[in-house]
Order: sequence, then C-alpha cells, then structure tokens
Amino acid sequence: MIIIACGKGGCGKSTISSLLAREYARQGKNILVIDTDESNYGLHRQLGCELPKNLTEYFGGRTDIMKAKTEDAILFDKKWTISDIPSEYVSENAGVKLVAIGKIDEANEGCACAMGVLTKNLLPNLDLGENDVVLIDSEAGVEHFGRGVDNQVDHIMMVIDPSYESLRLAGKVGSMGAELGKEVFYVLNKADEMQVESMKEAMGDKKIAAVIYANRDVLQKGLMGEALDIQLDEITKLSNALA
Ligand SMILES: Nc1ncnc2c1ncn2[C@@H]1O[C@H](COP(=O)(O)OP(=O)(O)O)[C@@H](O)[C@H]1O
Ligand SMILES: [Mg+2]
Repeated sequence: MIIIACGKGGCGKSTISSLLAREYARQGKNILVIDTDESNYGLHRQLGCELPKNLTEYFGGRTDIMKAKTEDAILFDKKWTISDIPSEYVSENAGVKLVAIGKIDEANEGCACAMGVLTKNLLPNLDLGENDVVLIDSEAGVEHFGRGVDNQVDHIMMVIDPSYESLRLAGKVGSMGAELGKEVFYVLNKADEMQVESMKEAMGDKKIAAVIYANRDVLQKGLMGEALDIQLDEITKLSNALA
C-alpha cells in the first residue's frame, strides 16, 4: 500500500506522517517513509533517526537523472523490495525506515525536477507485499499531482490545519483525487474544538478520517527536534481507515 501525505506548508504533513509511521511499526507493518520534500529538514528528527543520504546520489546525481529521464529503464533495471534499497540510503528507528529522495542544499543548485523524476520512477519499481506500507511525505502544495506522483499511490491523505488556505486546497485536492479515482482521507490537524466545528462545516459532505487536536507534547517535541514517540487514538483510527 502506498499513501501520500499532502497539504499546505506547515499544516502538519511531516508530523502526521511520523505519528502514523510509528503506529504502523507498532502494528508490525514493514513501514517505509519516503521524504520527497526537497526543503524539509525536520522529518528525520521527528522519526528519531539520522538524515539519510540523498537517493539521487545513488543514480549519479541530479544531472544524470535528468539525462536518463527519457529512458526510464536506465534508472531501474529491476524491481526493488523495501529491503533491496541500498542500506547506506536508509535510516531506521523504532521499526520505521526512512529514505530521502533529495534536498536542495546550496544556492543556485537548480530546480527539483530530478527529484520528481526519481520519485515517479521509484514508486512503480517497488515490489510491495501485503505487510508493506509506503508513506510519502510530500512537498507543500499540489506540484506532486502535476508531476504524476499521485497516479501511483493507493490513497491520498490530506492534512488540513485551521486556515482558509487549507480549506480551499482541500476542495482542489478533492477534485484532483476524484479525477485520479483515488480516495482522499482528510485529517483535521492542529485545531481546538471550536475551530474543528467551523472546519467540519466548511468541509460540507467531505468525510473526515481523523481529527488531531492541537497537542502541546507534539508541538514541544517538534520544537526541540525530538522523536514523536506519542501514541494517539485518532492516529490508530486513521491507520485502520487507510489500511
Ligand atoms: N497536532 C499538532 N499539535 C501541535 N503542533 C503541531 C501539530 N501538528 C503539527 N504541529 C506543529 O506544526 C508545525 C508544522 O508541522 P510540520 O509537520 O512540520 O508541517 P509540514 O510538514 O506540513 O510543513 C511544527 O512546529 C509542528 O510541531
Ligand atoms: Mg514537512
């Protein structure tokens, strides 16, 4: 099963992905988180592991990937199970594996297209079994829809914080999900009870998969760059809805 987490910047994609990944690990799933956000430097801390080496480097770096773009077979000559991913590109903690597609580290480095190409090629090349769960923590916004990454996922998990922009984006993601024939699981995040009521009203007949209230422990651990080793009933509920 492949799930993509999406939503606007700062809505809690990485936080919810980390909590959910831990939950799947607790349930005995073989869970791989793929970090496709080229400007996120916090996910590995939320998972409590090292920042892995960029997977783009395994394929000779971004320039080589762009050259191979038109001949996709050059990138992968065989399917990979999760354990086939070269170990120097995988970090692990508490049963959760993390792979990072690539980061923009320097000024004038160029765009992130190579990361998009690699992600789009990697997903169909994963040989996944019943017990495998792949969770993609994506970059903010909807570019991954444009890149075609979402064509290859089973479910879209949209994280919505209490903001007008998130609610607007939910409408857009809802219609793009429908176009692709994918179910969108909406997660209300970082809100208090009153805000949740307003958000539910604005969401109309869209089904809410989980409500994660603003949580002091989550915020504090996020602030300190500590592992999110927190168990929440709503995350368990979400894990079951997605599975
Ligand atoms: N349920 C929550 N309660 C409190 N703080 C949260 C919650 N979810 C996310 N945050 C905080 O919001 C900020 C952005 O979260 P993050 O997961 O990095 O967002 P994104 O990955 O969407 O950019 C972080 O400071 C994080 O600790
Ligand atoms: Mg993030």
